[in-house]
Amino acid sequence: KKVVLAYSGGLDTSIILKWLQTEYGAEVVTFTADLGQGEELAPAREKALKLGIKEENIFIDDLREEFVRDYVFPMFRANALYEGQYLLGTSIARPLIAKRQIEIARMVGADAVCHGATGKGNDQVRFELGYYALEPDIRVIAPWREWAFKSREHLLDFAEKHQIPISKDKRGEAPFSVDANLLHSSSEGKVLEDPAVEAPEFVHQRTLSPEDAPDTPTVITIGFERGDAVSVNGEAMSPATLLTALNQYGHDNGIGRLDLVENRFVGMKSRGVYETPGGTILLAAHRGIESITLDRGAMHLKDELAVKYAHLLYNGFWFSPEREMLQAAIDHSQTKVSGTVRVKLYKGNATVIGRESPNSLYDQELVTFEDGAVAYDQKDAAGFIKLNALRLRVLGKRDQRGEG
Ligand code: ARG
Ligand code: SIN
Repeated sequence: KKVVLAYSGGLDTSIILKWLQTEYGAEVVTFTADLGQGEELAPAREKALKLGIKEENIFIDDLREEFVRDYVFPMFRANALYEGQYLLGTSIARPLIAKRQIEIARMVGADAVCHGATGKGNDQVRFELGYYALEPDIRVIAPWREWAFKSREHLLDFAEKHQIPISKDKRGEAPFSVDANLLHSSSEGKVLEDPAVEAPEFVHQRTLSPEDAPDTPTVITIGFERGDAVSVNGEAMSPATLLTALNQYGHDNGIGRLDLVENRFVGMKSRGVYETPGGTILLAAHRGIESITLDRGAMHLKDELAVKYAHLLYNGFWFSPEREMLQAAIDHSQTKVSGTVRVKLYKGNATVIGRESPNSLYDQELVTFEDGAVAYDQKDAAGFIKLNALRLRVLGKRDQRGEG
């Protein structure tokens, strides 16, 4: 039996690795992705070797550019937010991990894939919907749903028995679960479990607190082409480089923190702390460039689709025909979304202060309160309002008669 394990090199997936070997008798192939989580990947290789994985069974891939170009940017074209606030930083990474895992399974001739998500969360759904969409008959192993450990303590005992190092914060107060990539970091559990209690400062890892951010604002210019950010302050950048640059600006100015109670797909509410510094700037800027380049009808329809799109991503349906249909419509809407946006960064805020585009629909002649506009006759507004008011007046009259 050969299993491809999504391996972070951390404690939990190291335990899973051992468990696959000892309880499953499986030959384990590890896959570790660099998605910009900000950790060295060399230790993951060393740990895997130490745990008895053969060199040829260790896969470590830098997926940062693919992640931002083919997943993050398409999602940002939609301005997707789950429950109005969550920028979907974990949700958007899972399909890429699943895809690569299946590719590796094919390459090495494995019959199963394995992930370290618990049986209580969203990630198990996202991984597995991805696996099944891409390889319908793949065997999926989800240790958290299968093994006999009754508690965290039992798990740690198993780790100790197999000489898997346990950093001391794992028995302490650090959040139970942290997930990070170039777009965001998220923390859940332990000190965060009571939603009435403010998250301690140490939970945050990629932003200064707004209180500690500089007292003078920073203004940056972001260039867009067909809905995607392509430059910062006039300098052209690849997708991952650009997001990295925005993350630094966001970090320095305390931008992109979110403390949220959200509804998981599996039915429970959970509390999480998120940091999405660059993404928060990018969303504001993207809406800024859309505000002058998109027609109202297109924009409003997009806003409706974005809610649906966010639900699909959150629930793990990236590889689905309905997500692809929405993506096609959203991508089509972006053909004229090019130009530049100036954003002011200041103590937790990313505020659009200027936008320009060769494709602008903004007509100063039309909107000015000074005289001049020829295309608009104020007298026309009287009939426009009157006809729109017609049914409201009919209703009003009925109510005055006191019927119904
Ligand atoms: N609640 C967020 C989501 O569902 C973040 C999940 C974080 N995952 C993790 N394994 N720590 O997208
Ligand atoms: C997990 O359950 O592994 C993390 C939380 C989630 O997936 O929602």
